[in-house]
Amino acid sequence: MAELVTVGRSDEIGEGKTKAFQVGAQLVGIARVGGELLAFSDICTHRQCNLTSGGEIEGTVIDCECHGSRFDMKTGEVVEGPATEPLATFEVTEENGEIQVNA
Ligand code: FES
Repeated sequence: MAELVTVGRSDEIGEGKTKAFQVGAQLVGIARVGGELLAFSDICTHRQCNLTSGGEIEGTVIDCECHGSRFDMKTGEVVEGPATEPLATFEVTEENGEIQVNA
């Protein structure tokens, strides 16, 4: 059963930054936007490129550097193709300076 798992320290992700963490079988991308953490599958649904390894972010949207798909990191929705399938998104919290994810 999924539960909150500590993946790292809060200071590992500054404002406007992203980082990927392995959580069980999932590679989870985490971004900090407007002070809020967003957690999503780091694997692009088009051809499985890693989103946080080079994707630019603008607001809550991240670009895939492989073929230009854009996803809303908050909802997982595709903002622009070629991807057609949304990203999974996950619950994420911060407690005592640690980041916790339910993935
Ligand atoms: S792998 Fe991400 S757009 Fe193609």
